[in-house]
Amino acid sequence: MRVAVLTSGGDAPGMNAAIRAVVRSALERGWRPVGVLNGYEGLLDRAFRELNDREVGGLMQRGGTFLGSARCPEMLTPEGQSRAVTSLRETGIDALVVIGGNGSQAGAHALSSRGVKVVGVASTIDNDLVGCDVTIGATTALDVALEAIDRLKVTASSHHRAFLVEVMGRNCGYLALMAGLAGGAEAVALPEVPCSPGIVAGAVAEAYRLGKAHAIIVISEGVPGGSTKLAEALDAQQKALGFDVRVTRIGHVQRGGAPGAFDRILASRTGAAAIDALAHGRHSVMVGMLSGAIRETPLAEVAGRLKPIDPALVELARVLAR
Ligand code: F6P
Repeated sequence: MRVAVLTSGGDAPGMNAAIRAVVRSALERGWRPVGVLNGYEGLLDRAFRELNDREVGGLMQRGGTFLGSARCPEMLTPEGQSRAVTSLRETGIDALVVIGGNGSQAGAHALSSRGVKVVGVASTIDNDLVGCDVTIGATTALDVALEAIDRLKVTASSHHRAFLVEVMGRNCGYLALMAGLAGGAEAVALPEVPCSPGIVAGAVAEAYRLGKAHAIIVISEGVPGGSTKLAEALDAQQKALGFDVRVTRIGHVQRGGAPGAFDRILASRTGAAAIDALAHGRHSVMVGMLSGAIRETPLAEVAGRLKPIDPALVELARVLAR
């Protein structure tokens, strides 16, 4: 049995640990694991590399993905998908493990609809996938965002300023909400919750009125207009706010960290579970942690959907911001 593994889309801390788990679990069963370089692009270009135990050693603590990753628009087309199937068939690959986020799992679903035995492993800093509580990489990315917020609070307090801190997450507010909650932000702006500049301005002005030394607003990049538009609106009413406003975009820094213990363990468990699923004849599923256990969700239920955020946590962030 030859099983290929690829990492696709935005890299996430813990992807290397997931590849390691896939490779070593496959070898344990006497299978031949094959790495695909640079995600679906490598599948189309037939960039394969046989992997052994030693080649995946020393990787656990490294962020990113040693196989490389890419955005591959061609995989969105029927032609690209059928080329990918041909590439797998002609290379003698029996099954594929796709480690990645939303777009990657949509690609996995497309391949499974064309008869490929595919299992997905939920990995994205965005934590926007249906079928899991938390995806590989999200916890480490959150820690990176938090460290930035903690540091920004220090300088914000010294200068009596408000900071708009923009975090990644694409169309999902998970990272912003959790960073706001754990970072003690005065307000969070999320794509899922309607939020006008007036509401944010109100939160900043209230922090000033209460005698706080700073105001931290965490905004998700998915909010229409992002931090740029919001900063313009706040600048226009600076006098009413009390605080001067500065903007920090954490951006890709969030993706580059060394994975923490949680992500390494989650990646090890889900990578191994992907091979276990294939060994028991199960495929067309994505493996992730759901209600604390490692579970499989049909790719058909995952592809093209966005996990909603928890309204109770939105409310908690609001209540605790006083
Ligand atoms: O999906 C992960 C992610 O980091 C998103 O949070 C972000 O919107 C996007 O990828 C950035 O993509 P790229 O690295 O291609 O600019």
